[in-house]
Amino acid sequence: MVLSTGYNRVRTAVFISGAGSNLKSLIKFSKSKKSPISINLIISNNSKAKGLKYAKIFKIKKKILNFENKKLCENNLFLILKKDKIELICLAGFMKILSKNFIKKLKGKILNIHPSLLPKYKGLNTHKRVLDSKEKYSGCTVHFVNSKLDSGKIILQKKVKISKNETKASLAKKILAQEHKLYPKAISKVFNL
Ligand code: GRF
Repeated sequence: MVLSTGYNRVRTAVFISGAGSNLKSLIKFSKSKKSPISINLIISNNSKAKGLKYAKIFKIKKKILNFENKKLCENNLFLILKKDKIELICLAGFMKILSKNFIKKLKGKILNIHPSLLPKYKGLNTHKRVLDSKEKYSGCTVHFVNSKLDSGKIILQKKVKISKNETKASLAKKILAQEHKLYPKAISKVFNL
């Protein structure tokens, strides 16, 4: 990665669509002494996203954007990021697919977390597909975002064992707890910390 932290923390935007538990864990991490990042902006496509409450709690700027017209929205978003001097984007439960063009412009600066051991189970309904396939293990992956869905270079993964009576909900809960640890670790790794 070309970014270097230097003295200042890397200005980061977190993109969310839902509960924002990963956002919360990233905010907590950003406030720790050893964090290479600061979280300066929260972006959501969903005005009802529960995670938006963290903007108020932690006094972080937020923007809600309408992705119906993706091109227009992304042009606007690009300007917002530039104006705010954002250098890193962390997708955290963000349910919109960014265009190839947008990703190209920010190459190497967008990270995502996905609740499976990529390259297995890209896309949606991960836990159901994992259980239907009678997998013994699942997990989560932090990766760079490229133009193909859930396919960029893997930074870190964490494996979890699937229990006998595992349900979609119990697996999601188990993996989410690991996601909260993995994302900060992966960010530290990106910055060689
Ligand atoms: C996480 O499992 C993430 O990997 C997936 O969506 C979930 C978002 O959870 N893409 P939260 O909004 O961070 O609580």
